[in-house]
Amino acid sequence: MRTVVIAGGTRGIGRALASSLDGDVIALGSADADLTSVAQTRALIDRLPDRIDALVLSAGQFSRRRVVTAEGHERTFAIGVLARHLLADGLRPALERSPNPMILNLCGVGGIRSGHVHWDDPTLTRGYSLFTATMQVARANDLLGAGFAGRYPGSRVRYVLYNPLFVDSGMHRHFDQPMRTVVGVAAKVFGQSATKAAAPLKALLDDPPTAPLTALRRGEPVPLPDPADAARLYEMLRARVA
Ligand SMILES: NC(=O)c1ccc[n+]([C@@H]2O[C@H](COP(=O)([O-])OP(=O)(O)OC[C@H]3O[C@@H](n4cnc5c(N)ncnc54)[C@H](OP(=O)(O)O)[C@@H]3O)[C@@H](O)[C@H]2O)c1
Repeated sequence: MRTVVIAGGTRGIGRALASSLDGDVIALGSADADLTSVAQTRALIDRLPDRIDALVLSAGQFSRRRVVTAEGHERTFAIGVLARHLLADGLRPALERSPNPMILNLCGVGGIRSGHVHWDDPTLTRGYSLFTATMQVARANDLLGAGFAGRYPGSRVRYVLYNPLFVDSGMHRHFDQPMRTVVGVAAKVFGQSATKAAAPLKALLDDPPTAPLTALRRGEPVPLPDPADAARLYEMLRARVA
């Protein structure tokens, strides 16, 4: 039986995907492990099965205010980048035991191109904003996919970067008023439902692409991220989680 682990499987797109899948679906939320914590993320990896067919990276948080975790990481970056890096690398041995393994990372590829990794200040001590932090996570996730594929060239694990674009997932709850109402109404009017957004993700899990790395924007292929900075990000992450 197929085993699918969904980090961020208790709400929004991840939950809609979890409820559409057959097999053993491990839908994880903050009650299972606080993925803003490197220690808790590592402990979670140790608790997960030793054979996994697919890993979905869907856990994320937005924050209007800059929050630093007890381990010294900016929180948006901790859950959006560090945890995803640790989960992908930490669960790779379990994925390699599957005949057809895949990592599906819900990220920003091919979407808004603004934002960048703040190499000299990744915790955003200067100029923090929700947008800056969110876009840094989006760009870094594009590089996570490129980096994984580059680091494990012989791996059977296919890495898919997928931007679902605007989804009415309930994410407006992260905002304070009046933005909560504005984003909530905009999501209702312009966003896809989480159920609709999950359908192509289920199709990808049922029939993974053959290429080691694929980048899709709402199902449409987009150019792969430039791998030039992927190694640089990997070294930065290694130093931050050492
Ligand atoms: N929605 C969109 O329009 C959109 C567009 C592009 C990309 N994306 C990306 O798609 C992914 C899913 O988005 P979504 O809108 O479905 O998100 P969402 O509804 O906010 O759900 C977030 C998930 O992350 C989990 N989570 C939050 N904090 C956590 C923590 N500290 N530890 C562990 N798990 C935690 C939540 O679990 P609990 O509820 O149990 O805390 C929940 O399952 C995100 O990465 C987002 O960046 C979304």
